[in-house]
Amino acid sequence: MNITIFGSGYVGLVQAAIFADVGHKVVCMDIDAARVDRLREADVPFFEPGLANLIRNGLDSGLLSFTTDTKAAVQASDYLFICVGTPPTSDGAADMSQVMDVASAIARYMASRKVVITKSTVPVGTTDTVLAHIKRALHDQGRDIPVEAASNPEFLKEGSAVADCQSPDRIVIGTRSPTVLEQMRRMYQAFNRNREKIMAMDPPSAEMTKLTANAMLATKISFMNEMANIAEAVGADIEDVRRGIGADPRIGYQFIYPGCGYGGSCFPKDVRALKYLAGQHDHRAEILTAVHDTNQRQKNKLAERVMARLGYDLTGKTIALWGLSFKPNTDDMREAPSRYVLEGIWSCGGRVKAFDPQAGQACLALYGERDDLVITEHKEDALEGADALVICTEWKAFWSPDFEQVKSLLKQPLIFDGRNLYNPAYLEELGIEYYGIGRGR
Ligand code: UGA
Repeated sequence: MNITIFGSGYVGLVQAAIFADVGHKVVCMDIDAARVDRLREADVPFFEPGLANLIRNGLDSGLLSFTTDTKAAVQASDYLFICVGTPPTSDGAADMSQVMDVASAIARYMASRKVVITKSTVPVGTTDTVLAHIKRALHDQGRDIPVEAASNPEFLKEGSAVADCQSPDRIVIGTRSPTVLEQMRRMYQAFNRNREKIMAMDPPSAEMTKLTANAMLATKISFMNEMANIAEAVGADIEDVRRGIGADPRIGYQFIYPGCGYGGSCFPKDVRALKYLAGQHDHRAEILTAVHDTNQRQKNKLAERVMARLGYDLTGKTIALWGLSFKPNTDDMREAPSRYVLEGIWSCGGRVKAFDPQAGQACLALYGERDDLVITEHKEDALEGADALVICTEWKAFWSPDFEQVKSLLKQPLIFDGRNLYNPAYLEELGIEYYGIGRGR
């Protein structure tokens, strides 16, 4: 099938590569010429395991191409996926300007029947709005061309995006057109083999499914962080509590890890967007407000702990930081808890030596070169002469360090762990002062 994908971010690029991999002819369009030039060389502008290979294969087979030409992109295919960004505005609403720009371009250039599919995470009602917008524009131009629409949200996780996309848990298709549903069933046939994964519904329900999934996951995390804070206050260990509740299949072990807060480009944005959307319909989404506020507090926790222990004047002090990305296997620092540590330490006059297996460059791009930031090449270099170690991301490389070496490199044996990687009793035995999250004993 012929498919055009608008937007070469995480969602668009991964989906384009995956579709080309199973034999569809895919054009990926982006307005950023420099990005398109890089992609034509299979040079992926972010770190995502397995993606560069897949793109190279697509380019070599001729099934995947990249363009900045909007008109050619619209006319190349029958199926047009909108995968552009929907960043948050200051009041938490999703900025829909990029989505509507693509819709306008489709209306301007389409010359034959199109199926327009929204894959970006969007407010409920967007797919219907996009379709109405295109139909109105066509009508105003006196052009009578059939156009249909579907919502097809994406549930991939950064760091495992390729695998998630190749083996989705479910394929949600929200459309009012039985023909479009059948066509999309064919499109996804390669991903729907071992069991039926397609879930057909109307577009608002599909859009709401996506927002609800992210809100539920964010709620699980904030709930556990709240419990961790209570555990700490009452003298319980949240890690024992976590195992204790996870054994109940109605609760389960997944996504109940307490930590230094959720980050990334999705949960923070989607929780706020859903809350805003509810407000537009006169519903006060109090759970979502609490989820967001709890997360903000949690993100400040590590920096506050460092200050409570080392003082609010950190002049002359150096903090070692392991982990900059918002989670392992990505170089993405959007809404990352590490940013709260960096900015908190800097605001008290301290200096940070940071190591991350992938996100060092992203950090420099974000904050620029500055005297109070050193990005090290090895995790041990960050420790040398530092007054404490703070851990923000659970990269595998941090799970079993040589603790004797950690002790000898740090000025004093002091660790603040935002991901509960270590056993507090063992670290105490080693003579390391250790603070985890919710470990009250
Ligand atoms: C999330 C969802 O998991 C995907 O299903 C969804 O498709 C995606 O958003 C999206 O909307 O595009 P992602 O942002 O890549 O994916 O990251 P997650 O793996 O979900 O982690 C999000 C944050 O939650 C991270 O900061 C992570 O450290 C934190 N987290 C996760 C916890 O603090 N505790 C947990 O138990 C799990």
